[in-house]
Amino acid sequence: MDRNDSQHIDYEGFSFDAFDEARRPDPEVTGFDQVVEAALSRRGFLGVLAYGSGAAAMGLGTGMGMGMGSLLSSVSAEAATSRFAFKPIPIATDFTVHVPEGYTWRVLARWGDPLFSDAVAFDHATGGDAATSNRVFGENTDGMELFAIGNRQVIAVNHEYVNPKLNLPKNEDGKPMSAEDVRKLQNLQGVTVMEVAESEGGWNIVVDSPLNRRIDHNTEMRLSGPAAGHDLLKTAADPAGTSSLGTFNNCGAGKTPWGTYLTCEENFNGYFGSTDETVALPDDFKRYGIDAKSVYSYEKFDERFDLSKHLNEPYRAGYIVEIDPADPASTPVKRTALGRFKHENAATALARDGRVVVYLGDDERGEFLYKFVSAGIYTPGGDTSTLLDEGMLHVARFAEDGSGEWIALTPEATGMTAAEIAILTRVAASKVGATTMDRPEWVAVNPVAIEAYCALTNNSRRGVKPNAGGDETPVGGPNPRAENKYGQIVRWYPDGDDHAATGFTWDLFVMAGNPTVHEDAYAGSENVNEGNMFNSPDGMMFDTTGLLWIQTDGDDDNEGDFAGQGNNQMLAGDPATGRIERFLTGPNGSEVTGLTWSADRRTMFVGIQHPKAPFPDGEGTLGRSSIIAVKRDDNLPLG
Ligand code: FEO
Ligand code: CA
Ligand code: CA
Ligand code: CA
Repeated sequence: MDRNDSQHIDYEGFSFDAFDEARRPDPEVTGFDQVVEAALSRRGFLGVLAYGSGAAAMGLGTGMGMGMGSLLSSVSAEAATSRFAFKPIPIATDFTVHVPEGYTWRVLARWGDPLFSDAVAFDHATGGDAATSNRVFGENTDGMELFAIGNRQVIAVNHEYVNPKLNLPKNEDGKPMSAEDVRKLQNLQGVTVMEVAESEGGWNIVVDSPLNRRIDHNTEMRLSGPAAGHDLLKTAADPAGTSSLGTFNNCGAGKTPWGTYLTCEENFNGYFGSTDETVALPDDFKRYGIDAKSVYSYEKFDERFDLSKHLNEPYRAGYIVEIDPADPASTPVKRTALGRFKHENAATALARDGRVVVYLGDDERGEFLYKFVSAGIYTPGGDTSTLLDEGMLHVARFAEDGSGEWIALTPEATGMTAAEIAILTRVAASKVGATTMDRPEWVAVNPVAIEAYCALTNNSRRGVKPNAGGDETPVGGPNPRAENKYGQIVRWYPDGDDHAATGFTWDLFVMAGNPTVHEDAYAGSENVNEGNMFNSPDGMMFDTTGLLWIQTDGDDDNEGDFAGQGNNQMLAGDPATGRIERFLTGPNGSEVTGLTWSADRRTMFVGIQHPKAPFPDGEGTLGRSSIIAVKRDDNLPLG
């Protein structure tokens, strides 16, 4: 199941995807011919690129299952194996986590675990205490980062959305029936900042640490950057348009060089609805999927989310939010200069001259990949307060010949003001001819080479139907397959080895697929085989050695097109050889998302989102999203 905008909610008996599909049905599926044509042209182009530069020559896995064998043989056997310190594991279809021989996992934190001693211990009958629901570890763990603050280790982690049937198990279908129910759901989302510590028994939350904090759907935020104070951001409660409440649908994450956490607002549209179905909504709401029908029914009990009363509230969500984990009293800042869309994550890099570069994916079928470049320069210890407010947002255009361009979203290029570009970013990007992508999920920046990767998770409508109000989505470039059910990972090499450059070259690191079911482009690229196959790459992080960790959020029914792929999983990929091996499998029904390491790199923290019972507490319990700690039995570093 496609869990990105599905929210994993049985909404009126559907996943969000199926629900959305029912509301906006697809036309007839396009032909198989398109796939073959794209595959062939892609192969030809890769052949050229592969000889073009050393970096591109590493793109071994990109041959669409043909023609790249001679390049593979140029990599020595030792080089191809030395990067993987583990023995790859097979797929799993069961309800627990598996890691390789010589590694052990253990739960660190579960939805409902107290962060403070005044929180009530989790009760499986009630889905947790409502009154203290913002004093516990929240629901649906997602992106996270670990910060070493003094001698403390602090994890900042997102709680993306809720599973109301689990959170309100006494309510029919989990539907909120009161303001208290809504408040409980609001409390369980947002961000947790928590100190963690390792003892003999393993890692635990440091309950009552002075750095522990919950940020939820009612936490005060400051709006900064070009959109702050714009008329569209003004509401009755905030006539200045500079202060809002809550951060929403916090998906992936990022970390700045100065030690702050970036949380990314993704499917914020689902929180807004209207008690008056006839309400007139602005045209631009369509492009963002905002309509009178909400996913969570907040509007029935909390009028801030009722579009018939507060039409501007959705303009105050969909941003990157910066949080200082070292100061629990600090006000999170919505950095509007980084644009408003369905933000997946925020991967930072430094340009050669010290400007800050933030890569940003907009996870929607046929939306875009972005890059922010700061105006100011980062200097350690210097003022960083406006680095993410002043700068230029760019959007990616990929050419068929393997080149690409970051197009600046200037007022001149878009005919929009800087504030309008920040608020209606999708509209601005459409005006400059950006490339519609197969749902950009996480971007990861390689710390040991000047290159970046983006997971394009899948796109059932590639070549079929654009996003509402969006651009056509022709098959080609980094999105080479129609009816793309498996996904791919694109990477780019900035010109001049500078992340601030406007030009780049690109190739595909992998095209996921199923070589046991298909013989065409859907078999996947050459670095996909029966032993390592997967679908729907989503979370991605590099470790310090330059190994790329890939997490999946895909179909785990292990049947048909997905036969032999098992549960969602985490794999490691070697940029130099294209080799990919499976490291971890999640419980059936869960997504593996979120990854960070302890300060000594001897523990890897991995997020297990929306597992079904009996994970993690056993039969007769509720499934609880969890962060697990993975260690080597010999306690050596793992990344
Ligand atoms: Fe929240 Fe696109 O995943
Ligand atoms: Ca998810
Ligand atoms: Ca996803
Ligand atoms: Ca994701």
